[in-house]
Amino acid sequence: MMNFDAEIERLRGLVEEALPGFLPACERPAVTLGDAMRYTLALPGKRVRPVLLLLAYEAAGGGDEGEALPYACAVEYIHNYSLIHDDLPAMDDDDLRRGQPTNHKVFGEAMAILAGGGLLSAAFEAMHGECGGVVDSGELRVESGGADLLARRVRAGAAIARGSFLMVKGQAADIEAEGGVVSCDDAGLLEFIHENKTAALIRAAVEAGAWLGGAGDACVRAFAEYGENLGLAFQVADDILDVCADTAVLGKTAGKDAKAGKLTYAGLYGVDAARERLAGLTEGAAEALAGAEGADVAYIEMLAEMARGLERRAK
Ligand code: IPE
Ligand code: IPE
Ligand code: MG
Ligand code: MG
Ligand code: MG
Repeated sequence: MMNFDAEIERLRGLVEEALPGFLPACERPAVTLGDAMRYTLALPGKRVRPVLLLLAYEAAGGGDEGEALPYACAVEYIHNYSLIHDDLPAMDDDDLRRGQPTNHKVFGEAMAILAGGGLLSAAFEAMHGECGGVVDSGELRVESGGADLLARRVRAGAAIARGSFLMVKGQAADIEAEGGVVSCDDAGLLEFIHENKTAALIRAAVEAGAWLGGAGDACVRAFAEYGENLGLAFQVADDILDVCADTAVLGKTAGKDAKAGKLTYAGLYGVDAARERLAGLTEGAAEALAGAEGADVAYIEMLAEMARGLERRAK
């Protein structure tokens, strides 16, 4: 029986080690861009999305983590881009991220905007910088791993591209909803915001891991449902932590959502009801995994345990 904590630490270690390696060079006179991109990335994030991708990859039967690591790093790059932009004065206007000054506080707004764009672009180079095939006299000749590997990589990349766009769409709705008078009619809007700004990229990470690991369509659907439930739960927990946790523990300013007039679960329904929803979504995530037929039982249990751990998280 594999030890859950030890395995999560091992996967997190793989991610930490690989993260700097897929960044493109930023030589003179663009050195500051590279510094800004690496700055947020090097801060102590939880690395939830890349670890989920690797767990899903293993659960789906993938045997070579080196194959999945570029995608795991890509998702973390996109997530870091989203955080840098989220903190900008034009968005949530935050000074603190992962316990340190936000990117624009250190590098200025222009460079923070560019660092976000740089990380998004780097994500796609990490995933598909090497296409795994060459075009020869108009024909695609697959070089290594065969057409099956190429198809899995394309599907994983497409899932991540989609998750990235949905994140932006959710952020747009989040900003437009800001400062509105909160009423019960906002229930649908709140679901839309959270499903897109946060759940979509988490779902994409799980889906990409499952594609890369070799899961079939039906199995990927089960993983995606797990990711959707977990992703929504993740933002509900984030909303609760904004109300109930301290800035020192969170590493980002607590109590900001209400001040900014954000539409959140805790704000619309209260903390107790938000906790109930969080528990329901966590259970829903674990239940969805029953549909992942033929998947590795030990890693499926770890995915369920991940969901339970994130429900209880302190930051
Ligand atoms: C924060 O994400 C933004 C949300 C989508 C809630 P995380 O809570 O994963 O932040 P890090 O990566 O650990 O800093
Ligand atoms: C942000 O949601 C979701 C992202 C896409 C970054 P929040 O605005 O609640 O995230 P935090 O609380 O600043 O991390
Ligand atoms: Mg925000
Ligand atoms: Mg924010
Ligand atoms: Mg928040």
